[in-house]
Amino acid sequence: MFVTTKEMLLDAQAGHYAVGAFNIENLEFVMAVIRAAEERRSPVILQTTPGTIKYASLDYLSAMCRVAAEAASVPVALHLDHGDSFDRSVQAMRAGYTSVMIDGSHVPFEDNVALTASVTKVAAPLDIPVEAELGKVGGKEDDGPAVEGENPYTDPDQAEEFVARTRCTSLAVGVGTAHGVYKGTPHIEQGVLRDIRGRLDIPLVLHGTSGVPDDQVAEAIANGICKVNYATELRQAFTRGFMGYMSENPANFDPKKPSKPGMDAIAEVVSSHMDNLGSSHKA
Ligand code: 13P
Ligand code: ZN
Ligand code: NA
Repeated sequence: MFVTTKEMLLDAQAGHYAVGAFNIENLEFVMAVIRAAEERRSPVILQTTPGTIKYASLDYLSAMCRVAAEAASVPVALHLDHGDSFDRSVQAMRAGYTSVMIDGSHVPFEDNVALTASVTKVAAPLDIPVEAELGKVGGKEDDGPAVEGENPYTDPDQAEEFVARTRCTSLAVGVGTAHGVYKGTPHIEQGVLRDIRGRLDIPLVLHGTSGVPDDQVAEAIANGICKVNYATELRQAFTRGFMGYMSENPANFDPKKPSKPGMDAIAEVVSSHMDNLGSSHKA
């Protein structure tokens, strides 16, 4: 069933677990993530970055995910990940996305407030949840490697003011994670997360989770995280499965054949994270 992230995240918050949000790149990613969700009886969020939208277009992605979601036996939401402008967020809502993120974390606080509030003003009457970001997650969303150093944490005082002024319905926080592949072992500042949790009552979102040890993620969920984003690990899994087949069958030219082990590898990664997030058997 095709749903918004609203109930999904409020249920997760009430039940002290988190819903996985998995970045999908193409049909095979969609099929593999949905298969894992059905197998685990877990709610799930499919999400796409502006980079993937540039590659395939909002209409293609929306149509594909809607068909998959409507046929699924578990709740499925389609979320715009790292929405980069007011226009793109509104376009995503019009194209059928059931949830959007507006990422103003790269502009000054007041500009982030204004940008986020402009999106919530449109989304609220449509009942579409809006995730915003305050503080910085390291690395780049689309393809980029994690950046060493610089990882400003979300300020709890600012977070309280930000949510009150923007009326965003969930908040992505900077607590030490980074997009892409980590050079060392990442460290989530659980104390910062607890401080933010103490000031806010909306669901909190963890970005850059590929490469974060499961025990740290589980602790972050205990400290208030309700949505956990994974992108890089799915890309790695698909490529590993696909390339594994091709290296053993170099003469193959049917893309369906290497895609099968690619999808199996994605489904395995997704299932294992659903168990750790606590969303398995919640649908
Ligand atoms: P990773 O690629 O590190 O999993 O980050 C995913 C993410 O935050 C998508 O918004
Ligand atoms: Zn992210
Ligand atoms: Na990461």
